[in-house]
Amino acid sequence: MERDDDWFFDKKYGVMANLETTYLGLKLKNPLVAGSSGLTGSIGKIRELEEAGIGAVVLKSVFEEQINAEVGDLLHQSNRSHDYPEADYYIQNYVRDHSIGRHTELVARVKQETRLPVIASINCVAADEWTSFAGDLEKAGADAIELNVFYLATQRFQSSESVEKVYADVVAAVRKSSRIPVSVKIGSHFTNIVGTAERLKAAGAGGIVMFNRFYEPDINLEKLELKASDVFSTPSEARDVLRWVGLVSSQVPQVDLAASTGIHDGEAVVKMILAGARVVQLCSTLYLNGPSVVTSILQELEAFMDKWNFGSTDDFRGRLSYKNLPDPMVYERSQFMKYYSGR
Ligand SMILES: Cc1cc2nc3c(=O)[nH]c(=O)nc-3n(C[C@H](O)[C@H](O)[C@H](O)COP(=O)(O)O)c2cc1C
Repeated sequence: MERDDDWFFDKKYGVMANLETTYLGLKLKNPLVAGSSGLTGSIGKIRELEEAGIGAVVLKSVFEEQINAEVGDLLHQSNRSHDYPEADYYIQNYVRDHSIGRHTELVARVKQETRLPVIASINCVAADEWTSFAGDLEKAGADAIELNVFYLATQRFQSSESVEKVYADVVAAVRKSSRIPVSVKIGSHFTNIVGTAERLKAAGAGGIVMFNRFYEPDINLEKLELKASDVFSTPSEARDVLRWVGLVSSQVPQVDLAASTGIHDGEAVVKMILAGARVVQLCSTLYLNGPSVVTSILQELEAFMDKWNFGSTDDFRGRLSYKNLPDPMVYERSQFMKYYSGR
């Protein structure tokens, strides 16, 4: 039977569009993934997301820096009362195990109590000994690992090349310590994002999350103090993501792309898939609108697929990516030439 006949058959008998997709080799019932945040840090909240229809979850990150800080605090306190080096060693291991224990426990519970694919997340800044956490998370049942790497380059004489190497080294180290698929959540501030994606793929990454949204500083003029800017994204932030999803999905097709930042509704989800994303990650919209937004986004996605007669997400994934456009310049254009020249 031709695809169009299939579709006619499905319509007539009320068969719904197939939203299934794969990401990092995992089978998801739809392309909506809850991004890592406080909303994916407890079994109760994750269950609510599952009931609303989410396709997978990325658990709240294990923070390498936080664990190191906890170790540092305890060592500092303990040094006042005694100075046995074995005690320091014990404290270091205790804090690490305890912190990791909280996360492995959550992984195990989510696996037991839901049917969701579970992606554990590690927030890290270098390829240190912590890479063994990945093995612990795998043992607890995680289906994949997402590495949230943020290396803030602040040294005058450090080359950009060496910064990119940090990211690739982290991926390679984690790949060594676990067998489950690994994705990397990167920020958008690389000189060559397509080249970075290729390098991460070569180091063993199966997926790239584009992009993380970092805590950004702002200044309070009333108090002349530094403060944190808005925690939540706005929908307009998705446009930069769209550009890079369109470009990277065409140039590095072997890597699965998860679009992230500014995706607040069904339209944004559809656009990201048209540009080539396998899945989208939702975070701010879950905080702002509650888990029920997942259900309405799924309805919008289905309505779009119905309107265009798409039977599955494969039917339109990448249809408007860089390589599939007759005039891909729209992705490349970064200055408003037309706009300015007409004024
Ligand atoms: C309150 C809050 C907590 C977050 N915690 C994490 C985290 O633990 N690990 C992580 O990788 N990203 C974290 N993020 C970033 C989100 O996963 C996401 O990348 C970012 O918010 C952009 O997506 P959005 O526009 O859908 O919000 C957090 C975001 C928010 C708002």
